[in-house]
Amino acid sequence: MNQKIIIGNWKNYLNYEESILLSKAISNINISNKIRVMISPNHLYIKEVNEILRKTNVEVIAQNLTSLESKSDTGGISAVNLKNLNINRSLVAHSETRLRQKDPQNILNEIIPIGYQFVLCFEEIDQIPFDLLTNNFEIILAYEPVWAIGTGETASIDHINEIHDQVKSRLKDLSLNIPVLYGGSVNPSNSKDILESKFVDGVLVGGASTKIDQLEGILNSI
Ligand code: 13P
Repeated sequence: MNQKIIIGNWKNYLNYEESILLSKAISNINISNKIRVMISPNHLYIKEVNEILRKTNVEVIAQNLTSLESKSDTGGISAVNLKNLNINRSLVAHSETRLRQKDPQNILNEIIPIGYQFVLCFEEIDQIPFDLLTNNFEIILAYEPVWAIGTGETASIDHINEIHDQVKSRLKDLSLNIPVLYGGSVNPSNSKDILESKFVDGVLVGGASTKIDQLEGILNSI
């Protein structure tokens, strides 16, 4: 059975107390073996959140990376420092990151050779660097149309299926075994239909993942 992947991207919504409370609430949820759950808290609190979720099946992942090694890079986040905190995966090139960071995908040239795991977000298929992708370690792709992010305007199932089908065909031609998630206004009312699609390997959830009742609704939708 292929597990669906559900990622909660908390972005910069929660303060310290809220992050700790939500992590504790998540640690008490009985998670179905049909899903794999990842949580991406704000970097400021990632260490504490990871400590709370360490004994669960929930994986804590970073929201962005700017270099492999630590270096002169004010405000940067290195994979080496994340690894030291037992954070072994990061979102890369989220559309909100792209607004501040030029070419956030360049980091892939540094992290792919060492096998640092990542979830690469894309809005257009031509943003996916198919030639860099590999089966050597787990890579995840996430289709996030900008107009659907934080707007309440979820893409239609037909649209999601069409894009995912195109990406999956390209991956198949290259013999790449890489899951493709959908993100953009996913909530408990639409998550079941999206997660049931054979073209969708999971969802990347923003706002709704910061509220325990909504997050539980999504986790329980399959
Ligand atoms: P929303 O679920 O708030 O639309 O955010 C989607 C997203 O950007 C997840 O990374």
